[in-house]
Amino acid sequence: MLDKNMELVFLTVVISLGCVALLLFLQWKNLQGPPCIRGWIPWIGAGFEFGKAPLEFIEKARIKYGPIFTVFAMGIRMTFVTEEEGINVFLKSKEVNFELAVQNPVYRTASIPKNIFLALHEKLYITMKGKLGTTNLRQFTGQLTEELHEQLDHLGTHGTMDLNNLVRHLLYPVSVNMLFKKGLFPTNKRKTMEFYQNFEAYDEGFEHGSQMPEFLLRNWSKSKSWLLAFFEKNIPDIKAYKSEKDNSMTLMQALLDIIEIETNEKSPNYGLLLLWASLSNAVPVAFWTLGFVLSHPSIHRTIMEGISSVFGTAGKDKIKVSEDDLKKLPLIKWCILETIRLRAPGAITRKVLKPVKILNYTVPSGDLLMLSPFWLHRNPKYFPEPELFKPERWKKANLEKHAFLDSFMAFGSGKYQCPGRWLALLEIEICIILFFYYYDCSLLDPLPKQSSLHLLGVQQPEGQCQIEYKRRK
Ligand code: HEM
Repeated sequence: MLDKNMELVFLTVVISLGCVALLLFLQWKNLQGPPCIRGWIPWIGAGFEFGKAPLEFIEKARIKYGPIFTVFAMGIRMTFVTEEEGINVFLKSKEVNFELAVQNPVYRTASIPKNIFLALHEKLYITMKGKLGTTNLRQFTGQLTEELHEQLDHLGTHGTMDLNNLVRHLLYPVSVNMLFKKGLFPTNKRKTMEFYQNFEAYDEGFEHGSQMPEFLLRNWSKSKSWLLAFFEKNIPDIKAYKSEKDNSMTLMQALLDIIEIETNEKSPNYGLLLLWASLSNAVPVAFWTLGFVLSHPSIHRTIMEGISSVFGTAGKDKIKVSEDDLKKLPLIKWCILETIRLRAPGAITRKVLKPVKILNYTVPSGDLLMLSPFWLHRNPKYFPEPELFKPERWKKANLEKHAFLDSFMAFGSGKYQCPGRWLALLEIEICIILFFYYYDCSLLDPLPKQSSLHLLGVQQPEGQCQIEYKRRK
């Protein structure tokens, strides 16, 4: 009998201890951060491996470590979320913050100190959101058409050119003249070349420039200084500019008003930021869209039929594009959105202010929470047959009500979603319509691969792609 009692007590003690151990284990696991890839070099961590091909690195890490993992590189902890629970925290939690996540890259790339950036950001953002919002967009349609006509005239009657270069020659002057001041983009050949060279070098080095001290990037630093000097010289003219048509201010003029009232400092630096934001994604997206359409003959044909049915025989007249015309050509917008889905930015980021729980892990404060639109858009759960260029999937989106497809995150999300998204779509739509209306064209090369180097912005082509174009009679 005594033996039986002893046995019972022993069993109860073992079970209780087991429960306590399990509880402690679970609690310990809860306090644990996600699996961390840190390499073996102090501070640099996994920096070299990650920097070589960040997008591939992220996907390999997801397969190996699961839906949430941390990468330690160049002194920074980046915690990537890839599934629902983590994405919800990224999008909705009050404990994660946009401004504090981007303040450091803004300082490195445009030399705007933290205190000025944080003091101005909200006011500048509200102004951009208003000026570039859907209700204000009509104002840009005429200006875009006019500017694009001017740039298309410079293409001449026929030629062969790298498609990316062609798009740059159209969209750099159009964006600069529209957002800053009409006529600001240089027209003199030497100055134009200088502008192209310096902006391209700045854009190419932007990713490294956002992470490394400037003295390590001599050429990039030179281009940055050239662009800052360009704005320094032109700010007085931008301020004094008055539109001949109406009294409307350009976007940069509206931003300058705020900057001057609040600090009166760093105007050229904000000019540089706006320049980069307006060109760095829109230009490659226009390139890829033209490339995808031209390499899908049936889509190209349908688009041409649409253009002729709205504007008459292609190439005949000098056409104006209106909002109503655009509504009759939905396939063009679907092609642009499908392109953006496939070439989306590598990652968007938020700073963790207080520890947040995701799955069984606790992500500590100070981490950068990272979400990859590029990989999210390749999840077949959200986009069936994700690798295929299928513009018709956008039929389901309520674009009339300005809603994209669920899980489309190329313009970011939440409070500080890209304020230029509607302008970008409009600009690329009109560019495609006018180019196809006036020019008969075909690709001479296969579409290049995308380089998987871009975490901050959309993906760039890895090589050249020649296009042959001929003005229609
Ligand atoms: C297809 C083209 C574009 C893409 C894919 C794109 C994408 C993005 C993304 C992902 C963000 C970060 C949002 C977030 O973290 O939630 C952003 C921010 C921003 N974008 Fe765009 N963008 C494009 C075109 C433009 C254009 C044409 C402009 C200007 C006219 C512009 C101006 C900005 C600005 C100023 C911000 C920073 C907003 C802030 O400081 O809060 N973007 N964009």
